[in-house]
Amino acid sequence: MSAQAVSSRLAVLRLLADGERHSGEALAAELGISRAAVWKQIRGLERLGLCVDAVRGKGYQLRRPVDLLDAGKISAALGKPVCRAIEQLHVLEEVDSTNSFLFTGPKPAPRKLRVCLAEYQTGGRGRRGRVWLAPFGRGLCMSVGWQFASQPRDLAALALAAGVIARRSLIALTGLPIEIKWPNDLLFAGKKIGGILVELAAESHGPCHVVVGIGVNVSAAPELTGNPGAWAGGAVDLATATGEPPPSRNALAAALIEELAGMLQRYADDGFSGYHAELADADYLQGRRVAADGVVGAAIGIGADGMLLIETDAGVSKVLAGDVSVRPES
Ligand code: BTN
Repeated sequence: MSAQAVSSRLAVLRLLADGERHSGEALAAELGISRAAVWKQIRGLERLGLCVDAVRGKGYQLRRPVDLLDAGKISAALGKPVCRAIEQLHVLEEVDSTNSFLFTGPKPAPRKLRVCLAEYQTGGRGRRGRVWLAPFGRGLCMSVGWQFASQPRDLAALALAAGVIARRSLIALTGLPIEIKWPNDLLFAGKKIGGILVELAAESHGPCHVVVGIGVNVSAAPELTGNPGAWAGGAVDLATATGEPPPSRNALAAALIEELAGMLQRYADDGFSGYHAELADADYLQGRRVAADGVVGAAIGIGADGMLLIETDAGVSKVLAGDVSVRPES
């Protein structure tokens, strides 16, 4: 889609975002386009998963108002030190993947962050090569780029620490009892509400560029979110989980950036140890019968190094990476 088409679509959406009914005529006049062009953009919004009610002779109305991302609101909600540490804050209407955008772009300067958020990802990616879906304006799709001067110890557990801080932000804003399914799936009542994708490029004795991507289902139907088929427990969004209007995506973005910045700034010195207890507290798998990386047994916790501990007849196995499925009790 051309940049022009994306911006007309967004212009229509900005007018409809209040959730009120707007006549085709008023929209067309406001935007200086024809009514047919308005209709085309409305169809475009529907293709992105936004429901627009069209009442003949009366106009168009979003079935649910949409809270659009706003770089100014996000920056205003950040503390000064983090604001100063942000080299670039990109808020995009559409991108293939916020992770790819940062990973293939310029690396941040030392102790600086690059942040990218998008209303819509055409190629959102989940862990292990899966897709990540989020309808336009209904999820939080955000990535933060950082460069370590050299490979930090505990690099392998960085994604776990990111899960811990994402959970912390979600709890602070919603009060929901979010759990973490190892390694870093964010769950509410056993359903997936968010996920983390960390990508990195490291030289053996040189700098290490990391991009931490966070996806949160904010207010979208579960069948339209997450990574379909990835987790048998299904998906849920913040609005459904709280039974209330979800927190503003701008406030959520700011809270996550604030926490992530602190974590990345400290990680080289402090490593994973400061996150281990919180991860253990949030451990969804604890006590469940699981299968991971060919090992089947009872999940008995997470080691200080971030590995999943599974008790089998042959003893305790440590799993470093992979997907975990939960088995029925035998
Ligand atoms: C998972 O649970 O499999 C990880 C999902 C990570 C999704 C986020 S959305 C923002 C960032 N950009 C991507 O393409 N993926 C991550």
